[in-house]
Amino acid sequence: MTHQHRGGLWSKMISLAAAVALAGAAETENVPALRDVFKDKFDIGVAAEVLPGNYQPEELALLCRHFGVVTPENDLKLHHVQPREGAFRFERPDAFVAFAEAHHLKIVGHNLFWMRDNETPAWFFKDGDQPASRDLVLKRMREHARAVAGRYRGRIACWDVANEALSDGGEFLRPSKWQSLAGDDVVEQAFRFAHEADPQAKLIYNDYSIESPEKRPKLLRLLREFKARGAPIHVVGIQGHWELDAIPFADIEKTIEAVSQLGVKVAITELDLGVVRRGEAWMDAGKQREALKKPDLYAAGCPPDVLQRQAEQYARLFQLLLKHAGAVERVTFWGLHDGRSWLNDWPWKRTDHGLIFDRRFQPKPAFFAIAAETSCSKP
Ligand code: G3I
Repeated sequence: MTHQHRGGLWSKMISLAAAVALAGAAETENVPALRDVFKDKFDIGVAAEVLPGNYQPEELALLCRHFGVVTPENDLKLHHVQPREGAFRFERPDAFVAFAEAHHLKIVGHNLFWMRDNETPAWFFKDGDQPASRDLVLKRMREHARAVAGRYRGRIACWDVANEALSDGGEFLRPSKWQSLAGDDVVEQAFRFAHEADPQAKLIYNDYSIESPEKRPKLLRLLREFKARGAPIHVVGIQGHWELDAIPFADIEKTIEAVSQLGVKVAITELDLGVVRRGEAWMDAGKQREALKKPDLYAAGCPPDVLQRQAEQYARLFQLLLKHAGAVERVTFWGLHDGRSWLNDWPWKRTDHGLIFDRRFQPKPAFFAIAAETSCSKP
């Protein structure tokens, strides 16, 4: 990065900080700050690309008031940071880290290795026009970990080291070039490289549906293998992209208990509770095309009874997490408010309402229901 670039972003950051302070002063005083409500239980985080120009001052004020931990939604992913071999791009992550530090927010690095082929740049698996060897893929992994986790050593407190490596099907690991080229110990190697790059960082295995009866045994097998081989791992990240009327409470509880019995903490890393059912469209292009023809059910707003159901279910989830507060170390929402959520774009364009602040940055019934779940919030 040139000095000119750095100077430009920095001067914007300074005026941004002033704007955040002003907008914060104007915010409703009667609403408890979520990070304070849960401060004796677990950290409350949010995914947001907090960069100059990306967010309005009111949004940044909301973020700084309620959340103590921040995860960059996309900017640290491998294909953003290293789109071509050795061509690292750190301008946006540097600005993000500077913002978080200036506002005393802890940072989760998301993620070092997303173990899906479609989320990995093609060069990573190639050696000229041939497939890369195991040694070459491992060398690239090690260099990536060194360059990225090493750059932010001591500043990024924890890393999602491996993301979505476990299979949804009959296999243990997701069939991919990660597994076929680097080998069955690719996840373990990822954690060893991350640990080498920043020995103090907390290392997270992050995945979706790992609470399910189908995937939980694979997660536990992974953790047992890590333990048996002395590989470093500190936290399991249950992503938590659940849907209204379908939170798997019993499975979540079983998973928290089983993981914590193995001496590993749990975090809910990507929480949202979409109100537009999308399950049937996962990974099926045909069904996605069908879904595109559906009317945008809640484009004009989310009906009060749906918001109420969502609030009750969020509250029940937080009751469960509070019950296991000794095992749960963080809950991160995947987006600041409903207007800043991937749920509006994937698997098809729609107006979803999965978070706890609405598009006008106002707390929803779900916010109040969650805040009421711990006695700390009561006067
Ligand atoms: O920024 C470009 C924009 O310039 C362009 O016009 C537009 C056209 O599609 O794309 C924009 O980039 C999109 C980006 O999000 C920013 O909005 C990408 O296409 C889109 O693929 C990307 O989606 C992200 C997705 O991961 C894939 O990387 C979502 O924001 C992000 O929320 C989502 O997060 C993942 C976690 O990392 C892992 N767990 C699942 C979770 C949800 O899918």
